[in-house]
Amino acid sequence: MEISQFVLASRPLGLPTSDNFRMEKTVLKVLNDNEVLLKPWYISVDPYMRGRMNSTKSYAASFEVDHPIKGGIVAKVMESKSKSLIAGDVVVGTLPWATFFIERAENLRKVDVQKVPPGYYLGILGMPGFTAYFGMMEICKPVKGDTVVVSGAAGAVGIVAGQIAKLQGTRVIGIAGSDEKCRLLKEQFGYDEAINYKSSKSIRKELAILCPDGVDAYFDNVGGEITEAVAANLDFHARIALCGQISQYNNSKPYVGYSILPHLLTRSVLLQGFIVSNYSDRFGEAISHLTQWVNEGKLRYTETIIEGFDKLPEAFLGLFSGTNQGKMLVKTE
Ligand SMILES: NC(=O)c1ccc[n+]([C@@H]2O[C@H](COP(=O)([O-])OP(=O)(O)OC[C@H]3O[C@@H](n4cnc5c(N)ncnc54)[C@H](OP(=O)(O)O)[C@@H]3O)[C@@H](O)[C@H]2O)c1
Repeated sequence: MEISQFVLASRPLGLPTSDNFRMEKTVLKVLNDNEVLLKPWYISVDPYMRGRMNSTKSYAASFEVDHPIKGGIVAKVMESKSKSLIAGDVVVGTLPWATFFIERAENLRKVDVQKVPPGYYLGILGMPGFTAYFGMMEICKPVKGDTVVVSGAAGAVGIVAGQIAKLQGTRVIGIAGSDEKCRLLKEQFGYDEAINYKSSKSIRKELAILCPDGVDAYFDNVGGEITEAVAANLDFHARIALCGQISQYNNSKPYVGYSILPHLLTRSVLLQGFIVSNYSDRFGEAISHLTQWVNEGKLRYTETIIEGFDKLPEAFLGLFSGTNQGKMLVKTE
């Protein structure tokens, strides 16, 4: 069977372009026992994949040049030689960017798409949701009355992180890249305030006005100048969950900015970096809390869905210019 797949054509220097991806034809082998033939339905594009395009050793293995890109995918089972899955089942897994693929059943998790949209398993009920849950609950540890700031607030992780903080009785301020995103955060996702970092004359001063008693917890998705502005407004014993540094992922030279460390020192701030897989033995706990909150209407979510398998590079690149609200997904049919 002939299929199409995206491979890494070359490693990017700085901001990736569509030239770093190549769509090519290949042929699938026949199904063996315990394998299933899958058709992708929703394909996730995620900022961490930028790191995998480099050759540098990191927590996630590098993509190989001329080999398929892999990521989170919700797929339909088309044919099965497994006892645990049948044709028509919907599964989630880390799978290649291809129009069809074969995978062993034990590498897939069957999901129920009757109650929630399929893409949720790549967002609020998947890796980004788990990231928001553990970063907020285990590191930011919000308590009633706290002021919590979330950067990258209107994205897949940020939307959930802010709402989880609200559920703990806090006041939440989001930082995002457009007026439309800021409006959405306040009107649909319960954020108390939102700052458009692209139009703000001084994020630091705006935060000082919005947080007269200081920031108790900061969920950092972006790093750079935004984090510097938050650091200057931290209260004593504040906590920082260092989740992401998207403002730095395309830098070819190390970022040289103003040091946030004196603020952390003089205010006894706790900063902890984390990778969601640190908590993999507790994903069950996250999914049960997140599912309950979604079912009770306490957590809301949104997705930016781009139609067409061939749009995968475009969707991925859009993460770095902020074309998404909530989870960025590609729908293939
Ligand atoms: N630690 C972990 O295990 C873990 C797991 C998942 C994700 N993450 C990290 O969490 C962060 C958010 O991931 P996500 O999946 O939720 O992505 P996302 O927020 O849905 O998408 C990325 C967003 O980043 C913002 N952005 C892009 N360039 C920026 C810049 N230079 N400065 C400030 N903001 C910028 C854009 O929104 P604007 O319009 O607001 O600019 C864009 O929509 C990323 O840094 C990611 O690497 C970490």
